[in-house]
Amino acid sequence: MTFADVTFLPEEPAHETEIEAINAEAFGPGRFTRAAYKIREGGPHERALSFVAVRQGEVIASVKMTRVAAGEGRGLMLGPLAVKPAHKNLGIGRHLVKLAVEAAAQQGWPAVILVGDEPYYGPLGFKRIPRGQVSMPRPVDLDRVLAVEITPGAVARLTGMIDHEDRMR
Ligand SMILES: CC(C)(COP(=O)(O)OP(=O)(O)OC[C@H]1O[C@@H](n2cnc3c(N)ncnc32)[C@H](O)[C@@H]1OP(=O)(O)O)[C@@H](O)C(=O)NCCC(=O)NCCS
Repeated sequence: MTFADVTFLPEEPAHETEIEAINAEAFGPGRFTRAAYKIREGGPHERALSFVAVRQGEVIASVKMTRVAAGEGRGLMLGPLAVKPAHKNLGIGRHLVKLAVEAAAQQGWPAVILVGDEPYYGPLGFKRIPRGQVSMPRPVDLDRVLAVEITPGAVARLTGMIDHEDRMR
C-alpha cells in the first residue's frame, strides 16, 4: 500500500467508533489521564476541522481539533493524532497535520497548539511555547507544548491555563 491509496476526508459522526479504536490502540488506557484529554473533555471538538484517512472504506488514521483559550488568546488544539500501526511511515500523519492546520488558517483561527514531540512536529511548523507562559489542567511536560502561529502575535496572547474554550466562558 502507498500514500496514493489513501483518501483524506473531513471527519463525520459515522467515523467515531473506528477513530476511538485507533486511539485506544495508539495511546492505551493512559490516554484518559493526559492533560490534553482533560481539556478535550471540556466540550465538543470541531468536526469540520478534524480529518480521517480512509483506505478501502476503513478509517486508518485520525486527527481532531478542539477550540481552546488561555488568557487573551484562543486557538485550536490538535490531537489526538494517530495512525494505525500497519500504515505508519507513509506520510499519513504529516498530511493529516497539514490538512488540519490549513483548515484552521482558512477558517481564520489564529493559532494551533498541541502536546507532542518536537522532533515530529517541528518540521511541520510547530515551535515550543516558552516555558512558564502556559499551563494545563493536569500535569504536562511543558517542553512538549507546541504551537504554530497563524496570526502574528497569537501565541504570545496565550497565557496561563489553557482549557477548552467552553470552560473559559
Ligand atoms: C506519530 C504518528 C502519528 C506518526 O504518523 P505516521 O503517519 O507514521 O508519520 P509520517 O509517515 O507522517 O512520518 C513518519 C516520520 O516521522 C517520524 N516519527 C514518527 N514518530 C515520531 C516521533 N514521536 N518523534 C520524531 N519523529 C517521529 C518517523 O520516524 C518517520 O521519519 P522519516 O520520515 O524520517 O522516516 C504515528 O506513529 C502514531 O500514530 N503514533 C502513536 C500515537 C502518537 O504518538 N501520536 C502522536 C501524539 S503527539
